[in-house]
Amino acid sequence: MSGSMAAIDGAEVAKHNTKRSCWIVLDSKVYDVTSFLSKHPGGAAIILKQAGTDATEEFKKYHPLDYVNDLPPGSLLGPVDPNTFGELRTAKEEKATSASNADTEKEIPHPTLCVSCADFKKAAKAVMPRKSYIYASTSANTGHSLRTNLDDWGRINFRPRVMRDVGDVDTRRAIFGHSSLYPFYISPMGTLGAIHSGAEPEMVRGAVRKGAHMVVSTASSKSAEQIMQTFHDEQTRLKNASPTQLFYQFYMPVDRKRAVALMHIVKKCGYKGLWITVDTPVLGKRTADRVLQAEETLAVGLEEESTAEWEAAEENAFSPAFGGRVVAGQLSPHTTWRDLAWIRKEWDGPIVLKGIQCAEDAKLACEYGCDGILLSNHGGRQLHTAPSALMTLLEIRTYCPEIIGKMEIFLDGGLRDGSDVLKALCLGATAVGVGRPFLYALAAYGSKGVERCVDVLADELALGMRLLGVTALDQLRPEMVNASRLLNEMWRPEAAGLKSRL
Ligand SMILES: Cc1cc2nc3c(=O)[nH]c(=O)nc-3n(C[C@H](O)[C@H](O)[C@H](O)COP(=O)(O)O)c2cc1C
Repeated sequence: MSGSMAAIDGAEVAKHNTKRSCWIVLDSKVYDVTSFLSKHPGGAAIILKQAGTDATEEFKKYHPLDYVNDLPPGSLLGPVDPNTFGELRTAKEEKATSASNADTEKEIPHPTLCVSCADFKKAAKAVMPRKSYIYASTSANTGHSLRTNLDDWGRINFRPRVMRDVGDVDTRRAIFGHSSLYPFYISPMGTLGAIHSGAEPEMVRGAVRKGAHMVVSTASSKSAEQIMQTFHDEQTRLKNASPTQLFYQFYMPVDRKRAVALMHIVKKCGYKGLWITVDTPVLGKRTADRVLQAEETLAVGLEEESTAEWEAAEENAFSPAFGGRVVAGQLSPHTTWRDLAWIRKEWDGPIVLKGIQCAEDAKLACEYGCDGILLSNHGGRQLHTAPSALMTLLEIRTYCPEIIGKMEIFLDGGLRDGSDVLKALCLGATAVGVGRPFLYALAAYGSKGVERCVDVLADELALGMRLLGVTALDQLRPEMVNASRLLNEMWRPEAAGLKSRL
């Protein structure tokens, strides 16, 4: 391969810095990415900013390095002459994120001063490059789905019991038999390299030190193997005293062979379950990301691409990673319930469908033999005006309560307080996922922040249990919450002029 190819002068690479001829260096090799520009799911501007430069560091923030193998055949031109590295161009200053370096020097409060999830967001906002903050905080369309997620937790009240000796409380909960110290886990979030230089391994270290489970994203900046290696290293350091386990979130690749190969890697690594994301057949409209992308396009002098071109590029090529669109073919809009049959043959561990949003699909998942469902609208990043996970759980309780107990039921979206976790558990959830608070904690403080965020949620959880009058999570009951406000708003087939087929 590049070993037998002639070395290319850095000065030559530097000349190819336009959309007509765009070369970049990745891991000391030169690639001609001109034909790939229009296909890059994250937009041409991101690559053009790196044209004629060594883009390795920027690339690694978002993808494992072996993703270069997905570039069109013939892209690899040869190794860069090591003596001429200095002649490469320096990447264009990112206008949209030019404040970032100044920002990272900003003082932020000591992590101990973070006493609620909102504090991590504030600290993160102060240090994160604008682009990364937009990636984390963006949501679909007008932001309605995200607001609903956040608001619905507050629309359920507790019905506490008193005088019940709550001196000691036990917050442990198992997921598929794997005990965790808490009934919450860290939700899968892609491209953490854009959030913190330690990326996913940094998050894993924090999780392991605190005994919290974590679901790792397919769209991670590091490979499934690298992330698992960190897990083992940290466990060894702690003399295997942490109950933490890693599960794997699966975006179904378009190509079935690739899907199977990835599943086998994940299994071999020792991930304890497959969380298949089903709410992302296509990418939602991440409004703030789109604005940023348009700014970047203008900043590098590219005209707006036509909508038709976008659609052609997105057909099979988007990924929900950075800016929502990263790796060609990583996700298939063609997946159906029938696919569960071959997935089951290839994966012999627990399967969870992530992104169930109505009682009918919850029931189907049970009929198809899934081990779990995650009620989620992807943190409000996919469908505009989607239901909150709580509303979906109430639908399940009303229309197909028999599935509770047959499958493990998880919820995520908008959980910002340990007592929110209790509400989900009262209504039958096994455990809940928490996303952005951990991401912000990582951005601001690295693994120390992740640890602190676990502590904050755990403290609120234990406090909530005592004030609610329970000492163990299996004492939580539906009658300990008043969900009548949400129930009043719940979808009713009769009201819609339909006969329930559930
Ligand atoms: C920055 C970011 C990246 C995400 N990446 C993924 C992903 O790669 N795969 C996935 O299934 N869900 C992804 N999600 C959704 C989360 O797994 C989870 O459903 C959501 O964040 C929960 O909502 P919360 O952030 O309000 O807690 C992402 C969410 C965020 C905020």
